[in-house]
Amino acid sequence: MSDIRKLLMLLSDGEFHSGEALGAALGISRAGAWKRLQGLEALDIPVESVKGLGYRLPGGLSLLREDAISAAMSSDARQKLHAVYVVDEIDSTNRFLLDRPVGRREACLAERQTAGRGRRGRVWFSPYGRNLYLSLSWTFHQGVAAVQGLSLAVGVAVAQGLHSLGLSNLSLKWPNDLLWQDRKLGGVLIELSGDAAGECKVVVGIGLNVSMSELPAEQLRTQIGQPWADLKTAGLVCDRNILSAEILNRLVGLLDGYHERGFDHYRTSWQELNAHSGRTVELLTPATSVSGVMLGVTSEGALLLGTELGVREFTGGEISVRGGNDR
Ligand code: BTN
Repeated sequence: MSDIRKLLMLLSDGEFHSGEALGAALGISRAGAWKRLQGLEALDIPVESVKGLGYRLPGGLSLLREDAISAAMSSDARQKLHAVYVVDEIDSTNRFLLDRPVGRREACLAERQTAGRGRRGRVWFSPYGRNLYLSLSWTFHQGVAAVQGLSLAVGVAVAQGLHSLGLSNLSLKWPNDLLWQDRKLGGVLIELSGDAAGECKVVVGIGLNVSMSELPAEQLRTQIGQPWADLKTAGLVCDRNILSAEILNRLVGLLDGYHERGFDHYRTSWQELNAHSGRTVELLTPATSVSGVMLGVTSEGALLLGTELGVREFTGGEISVRGGNDR
């Protein structure tokens, strides 16, 4: 366990701890403890220091814990997963699982990602301990055709999980952004490796904003660059371990039956959550842009747009709405 994590575990109760006590618990000097406390500030974790009392994290901090996640998971999901890895820091939880052997069903969660991957080669902002960075790997034996529309179905599964925990007014932006009041709350990145026609590994990566409002506004503006929301703003306060377990339960159920059910099974639910149903949108592709009315999705998850040339289907591109969420 890293020194930073040990320190955070000591401070997670939100109570004051003297530099001396922290040093003793870590097996280092008081000056060493002070240095590590400074390290927390560099991770944008606010430490309060009061003379005579010591140091504390206002409000405490709930860290991700493998045992807490496993305990909150359904026995079915637990049995179907070979492992759940909880790490303090990693480049990308998706990258980690992509590099693991094929055939294993594993989850990886991190407190922080140093090179979090977003769609279209973007960087996913991944500050320490504030959000959820969760990946799940699964093996399909029927080739990539079996996972058509999966990213949209993942959006439905996560939205339903959040709804069951008490979140309302959630919607989905094609293909799979999670929105709250037209602001981005989370995203899904699916990456594949293996044989396109046979055994292939699918890594489902989910980034979900949980509580970021305490970070400096300028940092959020430059790092995110679009209207965003987090669960806290949306009124859902939930321990991240419980949240992780809920999402893993839903994803395991989804992935386990997906080769038989396909996206068609989730299509109606997706359309009920469609943020732009009946609205005029612009579909941006690297080559062109097409304007039309968002009509819904096909049974494979393709976008249906009512354009001047009639109803057209699209499998790639990004939706943009004037005056709305723009990425
Ligand atoms: C998007 O651009 O909307 C998708 C973002 C997906 C981010 C998640 S965070 C966990 C997993 N690991 C990554 O590197 N990316 C995904």
